[in-house]
Amino acid sequence: MTANKKYVEYLDKTLDDCAKLAPEEKLLMYKGVLYPAVFCKLETFEALETFEARVDDIILAGYPKTGTNWLENILRGLETMAGKYTEEEKTKRMAIKDELALPPRLEFGDPDKFKRMMKLPSRRIIVTHLPPYSLPKSIFKSKAKILVLIRNPKDTLVSYFHFCNKMPSFPNSTWDAYFTDFMNGKVGWGSYFDHVTEWDKYIDDENIMAISYEELKENPHLGLEKIAKFLGFLLNEEEIQSVAENYSFKTMKQKSTETHGAFGNILFRKGSVGDWKSLFSESQNQAMDRRFQECLAGSKLGAKIMYEIYCKI
Ligand code: A3P
Repeated sequence: MTANKKYVEYLDKTLDDCAKLAPEEKLLMYKGVLYPAVFCKLETFEALETFEARVDDIILAGYPKTGTNWLENILRGLETMAGKYTEEEKTKRMAIKDELALPPRLEFGDPDKFKRMMKLPSRRIIVTHLPPYSLPKSIFKSKAKILVLIRNPKDTLVSYFHFCNKMPSFPNSTWDAYFTDFMNGKVGWGSYFDHVTEWDKYIDDENIMAISYEELKENPHLGLEKIAKFLGFLLNEEEIQSVAENYSFKTMKQKSTETHGAFGNILFRKGSVGDWKSLFSESQNQAMDRRFQECLAGSKLGAKIMYEIYCKI
């Protein structure tokens, strides 16, 4: 992973900006859903429909804390490898990105960014935490490839809880209060259960593929092969392996200060499966098991979560 000075500056500045906000200023509400105010603006949500997708765009959609930064880096690694860019081309592409100063998620930043995004060279990798009904229609019309990332709800919740307590863009919370907020969708980007349910409706589309955090952890090489095939990247075994190794948790964490500045320490926490066991009480386990049954059991994405394996003791 190459360090990008401008990106680190953006992250450091954002952390400073968040720290200046009073707790009640940290979140904003748009159409009944909470978002971190330092990243998201109402005008940008309103301008989202002006985003024009391209057929060769790669859209990565994942609820927060499902491993979006990890998969984004993997996608960038695979794209660079498949693009076989010369050093000169890589420098040029990086210079364009720096000049456009695009924040890292589709829904972040200023409303004019959608115009600037038109200048990004293909293939663009666009990352979002939004559910399908909040995305610009051109994404679906263009037939851009969409990769839907999922993670089991217990680990997602534990990861989100720690993140909110370390990341100054969110108000702090106790575990019990956070658990209740998560179950009620009163956290950034709203309900995990709605998010997965809504993406499940699209899962049979040929331009959409789902991948889980757990399968990427268990067999990164196989996960990357599936992704490369879906995106039409012609890569050999060694190339796939080198991308998998470059973006292992250990490697990314080691380089995190260089690649993500102070945010690196907040983002790269444990990177494991099953950490929920450290925080869930018996009654919280039962509440989550019930909710999973009601909302997701029986759906295709629900099956892909492998709840019985990853969320039961
Ligand atoms: P934990 O808090 O459980 O450690 P997101 O990028 O969507 O915010 O997700 C963050 C989660 O992905 C964190 O989970 C983080 O540690 C984990 N993560 C980041 N990079 C990873 C990697 N290379 N391998 C595995 N997990 C990673």
